[in-house]
Amino acid sequence: MAKHTICLIEGDGVGREVIPAARRVLEALGVDAEFVSAEAGWEVFERRGASVPGETLDAARAADAVLFGATTSPSRRVEGFFSAIRYLRRELDLFANLRPARSRAVPGCVPGVDLVIVRENTEGLYVAQERRYGDTAIADAVITRSASARVGRLAAELAARRRGDLAVVHKANVLPVTQGLFLSTVLEEAARVPGLRVRDVIVDACAMHLVRDAAHFDVLVMTNLFGDILSDLTAGLTGGLGVAPSGNVGERHALFESVHGSAPDIAGQGVANPTATVLSAAMMLDHLGEGALARRLEAAVDATLQEGPRTRDLGGEASTDTFTQALIRRVS
Ligand code: NAI
Ligand code: MG
Repeated sequence: MAKHTICLIEGDGVGREVIPAARRVLEALGVDAEFVSAEAGWEVFERRGASVPGETLDAARAADAVLFGATTSPSRRVEGFFSAIRYLRRELDLFANLRPARSRAVPGCVPGVDLVIVRENTEGLYVAQERRYGDTAIADAVITRSASARVGRLAAELAARRRGDLAVVHKANVLPVTQGLFLSTVLEEAARVPGLRVRDVIVDACAMHLVRDAAHFDVLVMTNLFGDILSDLTAGLTGGLGVAPSGNVGERHALFESVHGSAPDIAGQGVANPTATVLSAAMMLDHLGEGALARRLEAAVDATLQEGPRTRDLGGEASTDTFTQALIRRVS
């Protein structure tokens, strides 16, 4: 029996190109895994009336990890439709979103960056409880001690395994009740981890510091909305969406995905950059306890980005397939 069960969800658009590419690379790397494929997203919603069919949730729950492509969400309201990724994050209780940003040999990348944003993944403003009273609209931001504590603990433990520096990013000066609860709870959790350097940073100042001196940061932990925004900023500092990976983790389950979406503007052309998904697969290998394979995979990505061939988004001319074959040669 294979050591790991990996559930692959291609989703829509370029998800159908980058997931098969990542699978080929994982197979060439020699990962001892059984791959199980499952459907999710807009296309399956149109066909079957559900963006995450029951058997997909079962397959995701039964697997040791999920590797997710990307799904399309319509920008208009569609009766009965919900976002596949938000549903999976909730159903699998994936409470922390890890978004590493690391300098690589790609155009426009700021040198010396090696940080991880840990984004609380279940609450904050993203509970999406909105109301409107005439010309006034109100949104709730929910912060709980339990969700803040578990994400805080995870971030502190991650920092302890890295360079030992944790920045708690917040806006407690303006929102002392909600952001204040998050800040004080995370600081309590961080204080339990010996040897950490912990500082709190107000989110707007943090944005400025990231642009001017991202190399100064190791692990940053923050509420949902701030993490969504600042992790796109750090992706922008380190080469853009084509190379930005992420992991959603909980107590029992884990799902790894590129930060980018289904890229309908280039879908079906065979030109999508699979790097973000392959780097997400490397994070997945770490999660599965396959650190040595993860390092080999990252090294192959770094060498390929350095020496070429490169995909179009990084100024090259390589197709998804050509780039994937170059990766396969380096990991085999
Ligand atoms: P997007 O990330 O799909 O695309 C933004 C830009 O980056 C486009 O120009 C695209 O061509 C380029 N790009 C993205 N991935 C690339 C890759 N692998 N290689 C080369 N270029 C790449 O964001 P957009 O256009 O705002 O959203 C498109 C759809 O994706 C929407 O339906 C949105 O809801 C969905 N989406 C899904 C996400 C997910 O499944 N987790 C995350 C973000 C968006
Ligand atoms: Mg985002």
